[in-house]
Amino acid sequence: MAKFYVTTPIYYVNDRPHVGHAYTTIAADVLARYHRLLGDATFFLAGTDEHGIKNLQSAQKADLDPQAFVDRQAAQFQLAWDSLDITNDDFIRTTQPRHKKAVENFLQNLSQAITPLGNKAVYQGEYEGLYCTGCESYKTESDLVDGKCPDHNKAPELLKEKNWFFRLSDFTEAVRKVISDGTVVIAPTARHNEIVGLLDQGLKDVAMSRHLDWGVKLPFDDSQVAWVWFDALPNYISALGYPDDEKFKTYWPADVHLMAKDIIKFHTVIWLGMLLALNLPLPKKVFAHGFFTVDGQKMSKTIGNVIDPVELTAQYGSDVVRFFLLSEFAFGSDGDVSVVKFKERYASSLANGLGNLVARVLALAAKNPDELLVSQDGVWQKTLDQTWSDYRTAMDELQFHEAIGAIWRTLAEADAFIETNKPWELFKNDQEKFNVVIGELCEVLRHVGWLLLPFMPQTSEKILTALGVWSAEKKLAYQHLSTWTPRRGWRLQKVNILFPRLES
Ligand code: MSP
Repeated sequence: MAKFYVTTPIYYVNDRPHVGHAYTTIAADVLARYHRLLGDATFFLAGTDEHGIKNLQSAQKADLDPQAFVDRQAAQFQLAWDSLDITNDDFIRTTQPRHKKAVENFLQNLSQAITPLGNKAVYQGEYEGLYCTGCESYKTESDLVDGKCPDHNKAPELLKEKNWFFRLSDFTEAVRKVISDGTVVIAPTARHNEIVGLLDQGLKDVAMSRHLDWGVKLPFDDSQVAWVWFDALPNYISALGYPDDEKFKTYWPADVHLMAKDIIKFHTVIWLGMLLALNLPLPKKVFAHGFFTVDGQKMSKTIGNVIDPVELTAQYGSDVVRFFLLSEFAFGSDGDVSVVKFKERYASSLANGLGNLVARVLALAAKNPDELLVSQDGVWQKTLDQTWSDYRTAMDELQFHEAIGAIWRTLAEADAFIETNKPWELFKNDQEKFNVVIGELCEVLRHVGWLLLPFMPQTSEKILTALGVWSAEKKLAYQHLSTWTPRRGWRLQKVNILFPRLES
């Protein structure tokens, strides 16, 4: 049996979960559900990044003890993911003892590692630089625009510290090798090229410790804590019980690390450098999606255009939010969302599209359910095979909007098929043909139900329940679900309308 391990970034808890966090997390959930559908042994990890100055300062602002603050905030992320039907198998928090223990072990091993050029991987030095708390990282002058961090629109502070350093510079060629020979795929290509550009400049050593009270103490120097990224990146293995747990042996390396493009640098150069230093297996794919704007503008509290995924879900249901976010633009590109587009999409693709087709077919099917026929050589077989094949290619490439496109093309063909065959007339004049036309459209909907499962789990269950097959099929293997299944009669059940029309 194949295994599949997918991760989201662990999010800072200084803020509430927003639609950007939801986007990555929904995408990871879609992948996890898809791989479970294929029968893979799947592990999906989400979590929160609770150390670092940013969280500490927010706790102080809230006048709370840092642990109490991060407990409260982490719970909001867990609730948000529940409301979006996220099926993560574990939720790692960097303040958990299991995480701290694994990170200590990891850093201890790192401190003893030797680089490919024969140097100690960890050394002590002094560092002076500009630190952006927003990014939780040092910046060079060339990273800044008008003296400010462009991502956080804030001037970084000058910091001078005696630190421990990770000799990343010695790993430049080793990292280059694993990303050029395809051991680690960085996708999309633009991101791969961006990282190659960084390698061409040569990697710089990084300060891996901070003088703070809030963090994981370095096992070899308890006067300092690990810099938040050196604490955060190992979450992907601490959650699996690095170094000894069976889970670690089963699931590591990750099949996909998912994130937005802002943090790909940390996940490629630094994370790969650390793993190479410890001779650990490397993630197979690091995929960075694009950034959202809302009505053409960057999402920001000051502008007041922040979309709250939890509010949106409360209003429209999680399936609609999941569908909208993943169908609107290509996963990997930047894209713009807006409430107006959201409503248009709801009306055209869901209420008038999918919802209308399902209601139409089921209403016709209810006229003669026991006699509906799915024949051995149904006309739809080829189309559905093609749909599954396009869908799988798209899903394997993380092109979610194309996978959704393949489903909606099938829906459009089904609509056209109804128009051509006029089943309401057949019912009066040619019952035999009626039974085949509608019987096979029910089979089309059965396939659509399964195709939709990763994206819209509630809708999928409703469609399959309406067709009377959910209980019997939910434990079946993918091969059975995705093949044409002849039958006589459908045991239909009544379900509520899928997507009520919105009041204007
Ligand atoms: N804690 C680190 C990650 C550590 S992973 C070992 C961090 N956290 S974060 O809370 O700042 O979240 C960054 C991630 O949030 C992005 O990579 C992305 O997944 C998501 N997004 C934040 N803003 C976004 C948009 N405007 N658009 C799309 N995704 C966005 O960095």
